[in-house]
Amino acid sequence: MISKNSDIPEIRVGFIGAGTVGTALAARLSGKGYPVIAVASRSKSSADKLAESVDGCNSYETKQAVADVADLVFITTPDDAIAQVVAELKWHPGQSVVHCSGADSLDSLEPARRAGAQVGGFHPLQTFASVAHAIENLPGSTFAVETEGELLETLKQMASALEGTWIRLGAGDKVLYHAAAVFACNYLVTLVKLSTDLWQVFGVSTPEATRALMPLLRGTLNNLENVGLPNCLTGPIARGDLGTIKKHLAALEKSAPALLSTYRELGLQTIPVALAKGKIDSQRAEEMRRLLA
Ligand SMILES: NC(=O)c1ccc[n+]([C@@H]2O[C@H](COP(=O)([O-])OP(=O)(O)OC[C@H]3O[C@@H](n4cnc5c(N)ncnc54)[C@H](OP(=O)(O)O)[C@@H]3O)[C@@H](O)[C@H]2O)c1
Repeated sequence: MISKNSDIPEIRVGFIGAGTVGTALAARLSGKGYPVIAVASRSKSSADKLAESVDGCNSYETKQAVADVADLVFITTPDDAIAQVVAELKWHPGQSVVHCSGADSLDSLEPARRAGAQVGGFHPLQTFASVAHAIENLPGSTFAVETEGELLETLKQMASALEGTWIRLGAGDKVLYHAAAVFACNYLVTLVKLSTDLWQVFGVSTPEATRALMPLLRGTLNNLENVGLPNCLTGPIARGDLGTIKKHLAALEKSAPALLSTYRELGLQTIPVALAKGKIDSQRAEEMRRLLA
């Protein structure tokens, strides 16, 4: 197989699990010159679909066929299936077996390691709502890489080929790293949902409220990127506006009491950011703490 880019190593890549991440990774790696040669999934139709979208990729009936022909096999099944899939296949020395889970350790790949394969984790720190979005969002992501030796170099090179950056994680770091991603990604969605719930109290539908909030959300992300923490924090806590916070608490108590405890808790977590920004002193911080506690 001829690689399209002379910098890309001639590693024949295979996929087991033709879902969102498998399909996006296969398409993008192939586009960067990696020979993606094999795929199998739980259903042949998913594997066929992935193979149709990637030049030179064969769809196989069995997962073993992928394990037999590929130098590097990505296990892109749901997390809960990884260990069983790996345990039921025969692996060989010289090949690599890599999963894309953010929370799973390398323990689930132990049968492949015992058979002489190198094992690793390659987690795209990104959110993929669909295959099309995954193909679009994958380039430029940060990839959490957990492995060593030759495979570490290969995965670092893949992250760079995907126009992304990489961070190396140790075995003990994975679960906290994933919990951090839940704060930054999933809970951001939850916060916007809570915000749109409040808009409904004054008669604006969720889609309309979401549209109206988008420029604010984009502005916040821009400030995070360009100004950084803690200086990007604005709002009543950053300014130390006790009166405004009191009004918020009273309005929430009246119209949305279920959100009060979340507002208080997030407020308490925001006070140290405001202090670090330096616009409030420790006395004002303590007053806000008493108000919110
Ligand atoms: N989605 C995200 O935002 C995201 C982000 C970062 C990392 N990840 C990680 O990427 C991995 C894949 O997630 P995903 O979102 O791509 O999941 P997904 O869209 O649900 O796709 C999983 C695929 O695996 C196939 N599959 C399920 N059980 C299987 C088995 N026993 N043997 C072979 N194939 C099997 C499915 O079957 P069919 O053949 O029936 O289609 C499906 O195509 C996970 O480890 C996840 O943690 C996901």
